[in-house]
Amino acid sequence: MLRVLTVVGARPQFIKAAAVSRAFAKATGVEESILHTGQHYDDAMSEQFFRELKIPTPCWNLGVGSSSHGAQTGRMLEQIEAVLLEARPDWVLVYGDTNSTLAGALASVKLHIPVAHVEAGLRSFNRRMPEEINRVLTDHAADLLFAPTETAVKNLADEGLTGEKVVNCGDVMYDVALASREDAARMGDALHRFGVKPGGFVLATVHRAENTDDPERLRNLVHGFAIVARQLPVVMPLHPRTRASAEASGLDLGAHAGVVVTEPVGYIEMAALESEAAVVATDSGGVQKEAYFHGRPCVTLRDETEWVELVQMGWNTLCPPNSPAAVAEAVLGAIGRKGAEGTPYGEGRASELIVEGLLARSATSGSV
Ligand code: UD1
Ligand code: UDP
Repeated sequence: MLRVLTVVGARPQFIKAAAVSRAFAKATGVEESILHTGQHYDDAMSEQFFRELKIPTPCWNLGVGSSSHGAQTGRMLEQIEAVLLEARPDWVLVYGDTNSTLAGALASVKLHIPVAHVEAGLRSFNRRMPEEINRVLTDHAADLLFAPTETAVKNLADEGLTGEKVVNCGDVMYDVALASREDAARMGDALHRFGVKPGGFVLATVHRAENTDDPERLRNLVHGFAIVARQLPVVMPLHPRTRASAEASGLDLGAHAGVVVTEPVGYIEMAALESEAAVVATDSGGVQKEAYFHGRPCVTLRDETEWVELVQMGWNTLCPPNSPAAVAEAVLGAIGRKGAEGTPYGEGRASELIVEGLLARSATSGSV
């Protein structure tokens, strides 16, 4: 029996792990146990995804909570090491680019436990982003790299990471979106709850450090959404980081007519909102792709994106929030826009391919 220990800690990782955990449960000869670092801990940022997406209950929750990057990553590193010493899994599986990803990878390689990285090879080429550092270091520590796109495979090759350790399996978030499509379609109440009509609103999310920690960029976003809301209501499920930053800079996010600010919503409700929005405006990595999975135009409120395919295909445009007018113009200008057809994110079988890849790799390396 191959024993895989999955490390998760932040919202998008729970969502990605939902698909792969389902594939583990179906497969034979492999057993998964989940470690939650506790990086995200509010019910709306953590537990609700485990309930809604039926993710197996973690065997360990380290409860590290929020702090500076060094303190948070350091606490995780120490505690993950202790768990690994006790559990001695055959593989450690990490997702994405958060501090939980890096801590999981580093703790494992130091104990000579092989690491598999899901969402390997993404690059913004902006080393000021904490996520960029996390993913570069994790890719170079990992033994198996599950890349979601051809672009990611090329990025890895450019850094000398090639050969059998690299598998283009497609994007696990596509698997989750496909599996939840019918549930999302049934969730008509989502729109009713926010007083908006299908195709008649903008869905906005903001949480990236470069936007929340820079008061001017945050103000440009809030005032930009206020201009948009004169024409179309803006529904904004708020990340707790953004709520805290807005409060610290004296910005009242709910003060503008037509801007509906809400707690973070569940995955299915989010999918329902994405599938009916006129435009999705976001600085999230996952939400950019979900807009495309639901056939909606997206404006990415950043200077660059790792998911370049959607910009090339015309589904997504980049808009650094340099002024309220720039934000409003980009969002309103995206209404009705469609991009080219294509399947840049695989066939929706990423999770199966990940499980198969782990089993195949373990059989050849004799680690089972
Ligand atoms: C983290 C990831 C980011 C990812 C995002 C997904 C890192 C460096 N960043 O950013 O890549 O896109 O998760 O959402 O790992 N907070 C709460 N309750 C919670 C969680 C957070 O109130 O349950 C607040 C705290 O004030 C905390 C702040 O949000 O200080 C930031 O949380 P943190 O996990 O450090 O980073 P994120 O911005 O969530
Ligand atoms: N999401 C959600 N509720 C929300 C906001 C986002 O379920 O209120 C989901 C979204 O659908 C996507 C994931 O969270 O699947 C993206 O996570 P996030 O934006 O926090 O992180 P990123 O993808 O930027 O790392």
